Amino acid sequence: MNHIRNKIQDSKTLLGPFPTFDVEGTPYFPNELFLEWFQVALAHDVHEPHAMTLSTVNKEGAPDSRVLILKDVDEEGWYFATSTNSEKGKQLMNNSDVALNFYWSIIGRQIRIRGKAMKMDEETNVKDFLNRGKVARAISLIEKQSSIIDKQSDFEEALKARLSYLEDHPDEVAASWTLFKVVADEVEFWQADENRQHIRLKYDLEGRDWIKKLLWA
Ligand SMILES: Cc1cc2nc3c(=O)[nH]c(=O)nc-3n(C[C@H](O)[C@H](O)[C@H](O)COP(=O)(O)O)c2cc1C
Repeated sequence: MNHIRNKIQDSKTLLGPFPTFDVEGTPYFPNELFLEWFQVALAHDVHEPHAMTLSTVNKEGAPDSRVLILKDVDEEGWYFATSTNSEKGKQLMNNSDVALNFYWSIIGRQIRIRGKAMKMDEETNVKDFLNRGKVARAISLIEKQSSIIDKQSDFEEALKARLSYLEDHPDEVAASWTLFKVVADEVEFWQADENRQHIRLKYDLEGRDWIKKLLWA
């Protein structure tokens, strides 16, 4: 195992080449810059660019995080969906403060978003749920995300039962399935530089205005 530990220590990072980042030409709204960067990520074939880390805090104030799928971005915020029964769901119901993080290594870009996660209305949740694949819907219908499972084979059995239920009830919706909108008040765009002169541009919502600031790397 020591040679693997050596490999960790010898691993290189941020070698580039990376795209340039013209901070002068950035838009007023951070969601617009996010979409511009997303387009660049797509053009560079970033693997799963819509996978992001969602951080939450529990009742004791301790942080927690996991990877989720970004479902959409518009002028109001960034969207993700999950079960309110899950660990993160319970944390969100108690404290809506969240952080999102995207890291696209091939283009040396990181985006950090902080804000509040707001539940969308019932109709939107239902629409989102019914748009999901059959297996994903069947798993959600088990309604046990993040609770303890006795043995892995219980999963297979429960899934089989829900899949067969969906055959007769294709419009069944998991009651806990919820789309959340993250309304941001801080968004940072981080661009790596091969010579370590990384560029950090932060958008802060001050009152109703987005104020842009450069940060030391
Ligand atoms: C690439 C990827 C995408 C995922 N997307 C979602 C998602 O959109 N919604 C979700 O609830 N869990 C998703 N998961 C699973 C979560 O990471 C996590 O295991 C699960 O939501 C339970 O988290 P919790 O115990 O903190 O509630 C995804 C995992 C990965 C690796």
